Amino acid sequence: MSSPSPFVRPGWVPQVPPGSRILVTGATGGLGRALVAMLLEGPDCVIGAHGAGTVFDSEDRRVLPLRRPFAGEADCIAVVEDFRLRAGGLDALVCLSGGLHFSGHWKDMPEALWEKDIDVNLNQPFFLARAAMAAMKVQGSGGRILLNGTESALHGGSAMSFPYAIAKRGTECLVQGLAREGAADGILVNGVRFGYIASGFHQRWHAKTAAQMAERAQLVPLKRGGDPAEAAALMIWLLSDWSRFVTGQMVALTGGDWL
Ligand SMILES: NC(=O)c1ccc[n+]([C@@H]2O[C@H](COP(=O)([O-])OP(=O)(O)OC[C@H]3O[C@@H](n4cnc5c(N)ncnc54)[C@H](OP(=O)(O)O)[C@@H]3O)[C@@H](O)[C@H]2O)c1
Repeated sequence: MSSPSPFVRPGWVPQVPPGSRILVTGATGGLGRALVAMLLEGPDCVIGAHGAGTVFDSEDRRVLPLRRPFAGEADCIAVVEDFRLRAGGLDALVCLSGGLHFSGHWKDMPEALWEKDIDVNLNQPFFLARAAMAAMKVQGSGGRILLNGTESALHGGSAMSFPYAIAKRGTECLVQGLAREGAADGILVNGVRFGYIASGFHQRWHAKTAAQMAERAQLVPLKRGGDPAEAAALMIWLLSDWSRFVTGQMVALTGGDWL
């Protein structure tokens, strides 16, 4: 007799398993806020909402605001450990922290800004994921790790986002290597390769105007930027039992961009 299907339940929607303890870095960003909001609509869970300079403002008792700028591996380990101890364990890490530090052509980029791009978009996900996987292995109940990438990285980025794209392409390699390492312990590692999502990211890092945003949206086959809630829905699917046979994959959310 097979066990009951995890899909047959009221509402027929992907949800994180009840009681999940989920650390979200970049929770203060556009995509992070959308994810936390959607998680709070689902079953009871504990959410570590991490921001670098911003404190995640929430009165919901399920949200543990964590703020700590990352300056290296020790900070990444400290955030994972802080959350794990406060939440009583760690079932999932969602790494959404990221940024772009230079708006000019890469030929003119100062070394310090190259390093910042690589640090937040590649070094940090590596150190965060490594710390999370080590904690999940000791805990012994499996887990989920979700990283992020960008569709433009598959095409060499643009002149203005070349180092960022290199770092994001690196996270795709992380997803594959970590998935191989985690599989024996039931730790599934995946990523979302975002296209153009209207999360505030482009205004924040590249000071894009409304007119530039509208022009960019016209390049997307579906003629719009993605909604952060659409990104949250995909991430929740990847954290739910609906995706329990999926690991080592980057799932594209692009509206057909770059086709
Ligand atoms: N939106 C898109 O179209 C798109 C496309 C491809 C990939 N992505 C990726 O998706 C992720 C989330 O994007 P988003 O749209 O939500 O961006 P966002 O609104 O700019 O949010 C960025 C988040 O990263 C945090 N952060 C920035 N620098 C950090 C640092 N040095 N250390 C730790 N945390 C840092 C920010 O914290 P504070 O607010 O506290 O500074 C914020 O929570 C990013 O990694 C981004 O690269 C987005």
